[in-house]
Amino acid sequence: MLSREDNERITRVGPGTPMGEMLRELWTPACRSEALEVDGAPERVRLLGENFVAFRATDGRLGFLNEGCPHRCASLALARNEENGLRCIFHGWKFNVDGVCVDAPTEPADKREAFAAKVPVKSYPVREAGGMVWVYLGRREAPPPFYDFEFHTPPAESLLRCAVVHGNWLQGVEGQLDSAHLNFLHSTSAPSRGTAVRSMIQDGSEPRFEFIDTEYGFREAALRDLPDGSVYARIREVVAPYYSFIPGADGQPRFVVVIVPIDDEWSAHWYYYLNPFGPVPDWYRNTALDRSGPDDNDFAADRGSVSTIWNQDRDAMKKGHWSGLMQNFVYEDFIVEESMGPIADRSQEYLGSSDSVITRFRKFLFEALKNHARGELPFGLGSDVDYSAIRALAIRYPGNEDWRDIDLFDPPDYAFQDIDAAE
Ligand code: FES
Ligand SMILES: [Fe+2]
Repeated sequence: MLSREDNERITRVGPGTPMGEMLRELWTPACRSEALEVDGAPERVRLLGENFVAFRATDGRLGFLNEGCPHRCASLALARNEENGLRCIFHGWKFNVDGVCVDAPTEPADKREAFAAKVPVKSYPVREAGGMVWVYLGRREAPPPFYDFEFHTPPAESLLRCAVVHGNWLQGVEGQLDSAHLNFLHSTSAPSRGTAVRSMIQDGSEPRFEFIDTEYGFREAALRDLPDGSVYARIREVVAPYYSFIPGADGQPRFVVVIVPIDDEWSAHWYYYLNPFGPVPDWYRNTALDRSGPDDNDFAADRGSVSTIWNQDRDAMKKGHWSGLMQNFVYEDFIVEESMGPIADRSQEYLGSSDSVITRFRKFLFEALKNHARGELPFGLGSDVDYSAIRALAIRYPGNEDWRDIDLFDPPDYAFQDIDAAE
């Protein structure tokens, strides 16, 4: 439970808010790279409660500007994208990717150049990686070093999908942190397939959790002792403020969930599905991703809303489906998030022991806010974090070893994927 004031502090993301200012310190996933074609339509992007346009100029470079034209605020999403710049359709002023006004044709010809040079245009540094355009919206002269996450160079057959959810970003992130819901919310819907490991796990055994605190968040292992003396570990990583690296199991691809605040009440849930051992398996596409909507930029748009109680199927529940939310397991997450209201009121919560990860994470965020107010970069951004070494993995290892010693990028022979491959 939080006070109302604290709930506001960690949820609200607009300019000038403590969390909003801190999140602007990060390179932020903004839109899909392929949405931007050379001289193509600019993409309207809403992030952290502000509106922008992204575009790819004639020479292939990317521009990222405030949406409103600096002249009289017409949307530059309507602009012509031509000859290395966006030309506003209202009066023809033109802006290049560096955020310079290069033409203002409504001004007298002899003064035009000097006038244009003084027009203040807000533009932002951008990068491209992992199929995404990333933007730095912060105030510092130099952005922090760019991330080099594993999913920045994904296997060719990885998938990237997005769902737009009517809920504050933090309730999405907290849903990812919360392992206790797996055996309830997803008990019918979670994709699964019989494996050697599954049959070794004793029925009903609950995992024990162990953590390593990191500068950027934490690494967590859910550990189960197997009858043969080995240990089955599901190791995941949480990178503050909104990245969750989740291991595959039973031959599933592992995935990375990135929950980016669109504004206080809406969030973009980006899902990377990665299979380092081959293509994303057909059975996974056909079961786990089945019954999603067709739009990869908003694949859960057909989930319904509170007015229809998200089309919950009570007959199916009577027949054994746990949630009655019939599309697939990620829809269940989105719907539960939305059901809390646009900004969950954490002053009304009553937390139990299974919520300790959430409590830890909130403390971590408050600590970061405190340090940020003193001028520090949050989440280890000011130090030498090796983001490329972050990975989630499901693995079986001998009981006399420690999961903390396992190299996730060079796992030993008893790595879980070998068990799968042998099937
Ligand atoms: S509003 Fe854009 S040129 Fe006038
Ligand atoms: Fe979930």
